[in-house]
Amino acid sequence: MSVTARVPAKVNVQLAVGAARPDGFHDLANVFLAVGLYDEVTVAPADRPRITCEGPGSDQVPLDRTNLAARAADLLAERHGISGAVHIHIAKDIPVAGGMAGGSADAAGALAACDALWGTGATREELLGICAELGSDVPFSLVGGAALGTGRGEKLEPLEVGGGFHWVFAVADGGLSTPAVYREFDRLTSAAPAPEASPALLEALRKGDVEALAASVTNDLQPAALSLFPSLSETLATGTAAGALAALVSGSGPTTAFLTADAASARTVADALTASGTCRTARVAHSPAPGATLL
Ligand code: C5P
Repeated sequence: MSVTARVPAKVNVQLAVGAARPDGFHDLANVFLAVGLYDEVTVAPADRPRITCEGPGSDQVPLDRTNLAARAADLLAERHGISGAVHIHIAKDIPVAGGMAGGSADAAGALAACDALWGTGATREELLGICAELGSDVPFSLVGGAALGTGRGEKLEPLEVGGGFHWVFAVADGGLSTPAVYREFDRLTSAAPAPEASPALLEALRKGDVEALAASVTNDLQPAALSLFPSLSETLATGTAAGALAALVSGSGPTTAFLTADAASARTVADALTASGTCRTARVAHSPAPGATLL
C-alpha cells in the first residue's frame, strides 16, 4: 500500500521583510500564492527509512534524514508513537533551491501522505503546527490557494482570490541559499520598516484584477538576490520586453516570475525567455492552485 500527495509551488506576490529578530528570523508580511507546478510525494511502508528522488535537479536534493520530507515523517511518527519505517519517494517538478518552496512542498506532502498512511487522526491544527516547526513556508504548502503569512511567514490568514492568473517562471542555472539571501538583505538594509501587507495588492487579488496585481507586486528580497546573482536582471528585462505585465524575483530566488495578461501572452514570454539564453528553462503555470492533495 502507498499514498501519494501532490503539492504546489508558490510565488510571493508581496514579500515585505522587516529587521532581523533576536532569533535570526525576519518578521514578514508575506503574500503567498500557490501556482500549478507540483511535486508528488509517495510514501509506502518499508523495512528501513528510505528516501529517493527523481526529476530535474533531484541530484541536489539531500537523501538523508535532513531532507525536510524525512523530518516531517519523523516528527509525525514521533508524536503518534508510530514505529514502522517508510520509503518516501519525491517526483520533483518544482525547481530545486529556486525560491518556489520546493523543499517546503515536499515536507507538507510527506506529512499529508504519512498522516493518511498511518491514519493518525491528527487535526488540521496539529499538522499546521508540525509544518511551522519544519520551516516558515511549510504551512502554506499544506493549505495552498492564497494567504497572508505573518510572523516569520508561518502564521497564515487565507485570502480570497477573485480570478486566475497566468505566470511564467524562468528557472536559473544554479540556486541561491535562502539564509544567504537574508544575510545579504541585512547587509544592504540599514533600517527596515515594520512589514505590512499592501491593501492595493490584497484588493487586486480579491478582484482577480491582473493589471492591478501587476502594479502592486513587490519583493524586498529582490535587491539581495540580484546582488548575489546579478545576471537575473537580464532575465527580468527579457520577460518585460516580451510583454510581461510584471517581473520579479520569486521569494529568495533565483527563479524569476512573470505575470502575464493571459495564457497566450504567457506562452510568448516563455518562448522569448527560452530563446534568450538568460535562463535554463521557462515554465508556464496558472494560479491559484490547491494545497497538498492526496491522489
Ligand atoms: O524557515 P526556514 O527554515 O525556511 O528558513 C530558512 C532560513 O531563511 C532561515 O534560517 C533564515 O536564515 C531565513 N529566514 C528569515 N526570516 C524568515 C524566514 C526565513 O531570516 N521569516
